[in-house]
Amino acid sequence: MDKLLIVGGTPLSGEVAMSGAKNAALPILCAALLSTEPLHLTNVPHLNDISTMLRLLGDMGVKVTMDGIDGMILDASGLNNPQASYEMVKTMRASILVLGPLVARCGEARVSLPGGCAIGARPVEQHIKGLQAMGAEITVEQGYVLAKARRLKGARICTDMVTVTGTENLMMAACLADGETIIENAAREPEVVDLANCLVSMGARISGAGTDKIRIQGVEKLHGATYAIMPDRIETGTYLCAAAVTGGNVRLTKTSAAYLDTVVDKLLDAGCDITVERDAIRLIAPPRLKAVSLRTAPYPAFPTDMQAQFMAMNCIAEGVATIRETIFENRFMHVNELMRLGANIQIEGNNALVRGIDHLEGATVMATDLRASASLVIAGLVARGETLIDRIYHLDRGYERIEEKLEKLGAQVKRVH
Ligand code: EPU
Repeated sequence: MDKLLIVGGTPLSGEVAMSGAKNAALPILCAALLSTEPLHLTNVPHLNDISTMLRLLGDMGVKVTMDGIDGMILDASGLNNPQASYEMVKTMRASILVLGPLVARCGEARVSLPGGCAIGARPVEQHIKGLQAMGAEITVEQGYVLAKARRLKGARICTDMVTVTGTENLMMAACLADGETIIENAAREPEVVDLANCLVSMGARISGAGTDKIRIQGVEKLHGATYAIMPDRIETGTYLCAAAVTGGNVRLTKTSAAYLDTVVDKLLDAGCDITVERDAIRLIAPPRLKAVSLRTAPYPAFPTDMQAQFMAMNCIAEGVATIRETIFENRFMHVNELMRLGANIQIEGNNALVRGIDHLEGATVMATDLRASASLVIAGLVARGETLIDRIYHLDRGYERIEEKLEKLGAQVKRVH
């Protein structure tokens, strides 16, 4: 199992390009299932989660052809096996995103239920209820969701909570349904908008993506298209935090601050100097960061996927920060690991109180999930001495060539096999 060895203390400086967004690419790969014509994608990040999704689509009969460094063509004309096995879904929960497209296109699907997850229970009943509202007959047998529908019917759906992949699954299914579907309480995340834009380029009729009410007029079929995946706002935010915590001066290219308002605001509050360009962001860190409190909530509020990284930053900031996690019930697993580096953090329920200290000391720590791992990298970059991060397969799921990008910014990072 690979580990990451970091020697802390070097301020990050220089320029590095950001990759395409994992959480936009995953649903967009599934959108290829909706058409018999090829979907040509660019700016697809090289990540383990993307490879897993491509394997899953391949098992269903989708032909995948790589095209250049970050492009690929997905041809679902030979789709003949509308199934997602437990083996696949258990390694990546986003596999549930095939459910909506499969029922819509094939009239049937057999998709494993994801089961529990390190950061929370993460059930998918909203995906199922929405499809039932569109007329799908759904049973759960031996851990598998079996869905059938001759043709889905447009419906009015109001989800009980804001769910990102739930909204995406239902929006994709509704594209081929008979009539109009309205999704209320829809997720407004930029990745939902990116998926909607891709679907529209395939001929879907969608309005309101990016608001909490999305309208989809079903069409008979979707056609092929070419689409570029949006930049990864969470990768961008993570590198901004890494630069901030090390007293760095970096310019991140091929990205945009457009979807990072709350993150940029908090970095400004922490004392960073930020310049926003059209396709780039520059950050210059202050001599010492100020503590910043935050509360996670669905977009446009502060993203849960940036909570752990800000926690790491607060560990060595001046002052005390309170961090409240409202999306997932178990997303503080990085806390004990940060405390192994000397951090002063107290947890009470879904609140964490972080008292800034002068410095962290390197140690061996264990990555527990993707964003928790990112927070350990950030902490390691500023800790004195060596930090060895175990189980970095979590990082490889969501950060493309992380050690290479950090090295480009001057960090002392090595992958240990
Ligand atoms: N929920 C339910 N029932 C459902 C659906 C969701 O109770 O049917 C609950 C969840 O348990 C959670 C909350 O609703 O408490 C929100 O979950 P959501 O469905 O929005 O999460 P998700 O779609 O499974 C996506 C991202 C996550 C990100 C969350 C929140 C993808 C592939 N994943 O997950 O990304 O944290 O939205 O923004 O888009 C990551 O990249 O590290 C990651 C975990």
